[in-house]
Amino acid sequence: MEFSDASCRILAGLLEARTGQQLTMSRRWRIETALAALLRERGIASLDELITILVMNREPGLSNQVVEALLNNETYFFRDRTPFDLLSRHALPALARMRQSSRRLRIWSAGCSTGQEVYSLAMLFAEQEASWRGWTIDILGTDVSSAVIDKARAGTYTQFEVQRGLAIGQTIRWFEEADAGWRAVEALRRPVRFQVHNVLEQPPHPGDFDIVLCRNVLLYLSADKRSIAFDRLASGMAEDGWLMLGAGETVIGQTTRLAADPEARGLYRRTEALPSSDRRTGVDRRTVARG
Ligand SMILES: C[S@@+](CC[C@H](N)C(=O)[O-])C[C@H]1O[C@@H](n2cnc3c(N)ncnc32)[C@H](O)[C@@H]1O
Repeated sequence: MEFSDASCRILAGLLEARTGQQLTMSRRWRIETALAALLRERGIASLDELITILVMNREPGLSNQVVEALLNNETYFFRDRTPFDLLSRHALPALARMRQSSRRLRIWSAGCSTGQEVYSLAMLFAEQEASWRGWTIDILGTDVSSAVIDKARAGTYTQFEVQRGLAIGQTIRWFEEADAGWRAVEALRRPVRFQVHNVLEQPPHPGDFDIVLCRNVLLYLSADKRSIAFDRLASGMAEDGWLMLGAGETVIGQTTRLAADPEARGLYRRTEALPSSDRRTGVDRRTVARG
């Protein structure tokens, strides 16, 4: 399908304005593939016609669909495996000691796509049920796309999707057969929540998250936007919390608010303390704040 440079620039501008994601020249081939289904469904003959509709604002809501179609939502259960082992071996045992008084953990998966990362985390806790009995575990998944958040909330995955990352035993134990495939069981659904949220905006619960994951989300942000995103992620973390990025992503040279954890390669910590008015005392700050 032919489309002009001007159309390309308009689409790239729309995507960047809404999400911070850049469609560099070398990734523009994605436009056609990403939008093909939407054009078919809407009976729009070409990308240039789509741009005309967008520019004239003839179909409110269409621009959201275009942005969502252009986003890369690739994900799968226990993606890259090692980070989940690192959480199990390092961060969770430490948090089990550090949060002994409140017995509450909050985890934020920013840019969670269709939820596989969030349910993988829920599985980590469910598989260590005896260690976490009596604890309140909250796992919040957020994404800028409402379409992926709807799917994450439904918690239903096709056979192909569960096969990507889950052993047969895990599928049978943690999912039940549903019309459209496999639905996460109640034990996985209980600790998880999903919300539409842009990582460039204020975090959902500032200073509160013990672990923040933001994996494979910031790769195509400009340096300026990435620095804003790191600021937001740091603000979301508890003073003694951890950030985890995707394989090959780093904070080094991109922000002064986060630094590599010398004890756990692949995890990052805040460099600054919270304002003293907001700092945890001997009693867990969140227990005090929320009663
Ligand atoms: C490649 S997926 C990664 C999903 C998961 N974190 C993983 O590693 O498997 C990137 C996700 O980030 C989301 N995203 C992109 N820009 C975002 C933004 N500004 N705020 C929140 N989510 C964003 C996309 O919609 C997409 O679902």
